[in-house]
Amino acid sequence: MKRIAVLTSGGDAAGMNAAIRAVVRTALHCGWEVLGLKHGYTGLIAGDFVVLGARDVGGIIQHGGTKLGSTRCEEFKTEQGRLRALRQLNERDIGALVVIGGDGSQAGSHALSQMGFPVIGIASTIDNDLCGSEITLGVDTALNVALEAIDRLKVTASSHQRAFLVEVMGRDCGYIALMTGIAGGAEAIVIPEVETDPEQIATELRASYERGKAHAIVVVAEGAKYNADGLARYFSDHRKRLGFDLRVTKLGHVQRGGAPGVFDRMLGTRFGAAAIQYLAKDEHGILVGLLKGEIVATPLAEVAAARKPLDLRLMELARVLAR
Ligand code: ADP
Ligand code: F6P
Repeated sequence: MKRIAVLTSGGDAAGMNAAIRAVVRTALHCGWEVLGLKHGYTGLIAGDFVVLGARDVGGIIQHGGTKLGSTRCEEFKTEQGRLRALRQLNERDIGALVVIGGDGSQAGSHALSQMGFPVIGIASTIDNDLCGSEITLGVDTALNVALEAIDRLKVTASSHQRAFLVEVMGRDCGYIALMTGIAGGAEAIVIPEVETDPEQIATELRASYERGKAHAIVVVAEGAKYNADGLARYFSDHRKRLGFDLRVTKLGHVQRGGAPGVFDRMLGTRFGAAAIQYLAKDEHGILVGLLKGEIVATPLAEVAAARKPLDLRLMELARVLAR
């Protein structure tokens, strides 16, 4: 058949390299040629292609980030930008594009696919806010990085009988906070999906000290109304009345930089291989994801139209377990 291209876009995620490697080697196995695009949609618009052979993707599966590079590209959101991208693809006689990225990147895939070009998405973002995959590439590694940090904070919090506020990423989704909050045994969790009263947090923390706890950990999602800065400011403004303040740690990009664990290496590998298998059947305009343990494809139109729900029953479970 054909010549295809692959790019990574949006926030990088551990496992992207495994996906690139699987795309390249599965396509080569089919007798196709693969071009990689440097720096996501920016490279696509600029025509920044590199030929990817089997050796070019050797020794990358164990590395975090993306060997192809990634960007946020405002120009691709415009029709003019996408037309420039289309020209680059058509000039090189490229038959299909694989886009490894999160919800924004897949909105881009959908837009390109609506212009008639065969595109296939691979669900990849640490935020886990993308429909069509119950867990996206990079989530597991990011969760483990955040969890290790929370465990360490708990050690020092216990030594000093302190309360710590740990802010995790997720943009406007509370998934990372909810999972690491439960798995890290947090005393309270603050997420954008649930309105939070700082007074309630103070009450919960005080109650946990009264129950004999030597530490208090509050895991807060960056997108919550009361994120780390907001909550810390509230506690500092009401220091006298509340009786304690909160030490703040923002984990930030450290969560994105981990080396992929076995779960993300396998997920990236399975996603990458499946993307080529779908293309071989001439199926495109779809997102490759994991649903009920199986690799499945969901139309990009459906992915773009839906918002992934968070299982809020887990917030109640977290409250019960924080006793
Ligand atoms: P992620 O894919 O990790 O969610 P972003 O939301 O930043 O990251 O999106 C990555 C890139 O995808 C954007 O910089 C832009 O180039 C492209 N993109 C996002 N939304 C759209 C859209 N509605 N139409 C076309 N391209 C988009
Ligand atoms: O989408 C992944 C993510 O890490 C979000 O959790 C976070 O809000 C955002 O990217 C940070 O973006 P940037 O790396 O551009 O600062």
